[in-house]
Amino acid sequence: MGAVDLKGRDFLKLLDYTPEEIRYLVELAAAYKKKKHEGILHDDLRGKNVALIFEKTSTRTRCSFEVAAHDLGMGSTYLDPSASQISKKESIADTARVLSGMFDGIEYRGYGQEIVEELAKYASVPVWNGLTNEFHPTQMLADLLTIQECFGTFEGIKVAYMGDARYNMGNSWMVTCAKMGMEFAACAPESYWPDRDLVATCQELAKETGARIGFYEDAMEGVRGANVVYTDVWVSMGEPDEVWKERIDRLSPYQVNRKIMEQAGDGAVFMHCLPAYHDLKTQIGKEKGEQFGFTELEVTDEVFESECSVVFQEAENRMHTIKAVMAATLGAD
Ligand code: CP
Ligand code: NVA
Repeated sequence: MGAVDLKGRDFLKLLDYTPEEIRYLVELAAAYKKKKHEGILHDDLRGKNVALIFEKTSTRTRCSFEVAAHDLGMGSTYLDPSASQISKKESIADTARVLSGMFDGIEYRGYGQEIVEELAKYASVPVWNGLTNEFHPTQMLADLLTIQECFGTFEGIKVAYMGDARYNMGNSWMVTCAKMGMEFAACAPESYWPDRDLVATCQELAKETGARIGFYEDAMEGVRGANVVYTDVWVSMGEPDEVWKERIDRLSPYQVNRKIMEQAGDGAVFMHCLPAYHDLKTQIGKEKGEQFGFTELEVTDEVFESECSVVFQEAENRMHTIKAVMAATLGAD
């Protein structure tokens, strides 16, 4: 692990990282996970402090940053949109310079990727992307760690991405597969395939890494032989309420159900970044379920609760991988 040095780097999207650096972060996360499970203290960043800016809500990402910061011996300050001046009374550039004077690193979850890129441009400390409309890179590291734990390798792994393949999770998966030499099969209507420029970038990367990138309107064709069947919500944070009907109409053929899992390879796992609409036990799920007449959405409750579902292992891995990102970029030794 010794050769890679990420001290002082931002973590904004996986496109900025080499396959070797990505592998290093996954290995570092595995090492931190082992320490945590064995009860070995690892407060290597004692005395440092991080700012956590959330312009959108979160359970996993916020908790991961806070617990990881605490385990590393750091203080953390949570800023939600209603409790800070960011964007309303103070620009991103000014916020970046103010926070850089008090903190050793800044996490940002929000809307356009250009916002986190601007924050990083003006900040003099590492900036970490906790999700934008375009990318969710810390989720990708957790997913890679989970795949490594399940299959022992990234080589030859096929990921079938079902549903809305043109938002943060679909984009991030295409980039991740391109970087790591994996197979990415987007299963979605054509208008839900990722942006053409990003596809072209990933196809170029794939030439170097041996990755394969495919797009399928026929879900049964795309998912054939997949090792990982992945999906995400059909309506993401910040999208208007009016899109629900169209999403349900267009994306229902891409629901992950028993038939889809049977079509995937032997030993295939089901993954989801969460939160998921797999039943009506949430306020929005119940309200929309009654309005549109469904009881489960992007994944059936049967698959979600089945043996092949590794979603809670994946969620735990958010914390270990976020810890690795902070430790590596802040220079814990
Ligand atoms: N997967 C994920 O980012 O979850 P949160 O929105 O709860 O952080
Ligand atoms: N696409 C989802 C991901 C949540 C982790 C969203 O942006 O809301």
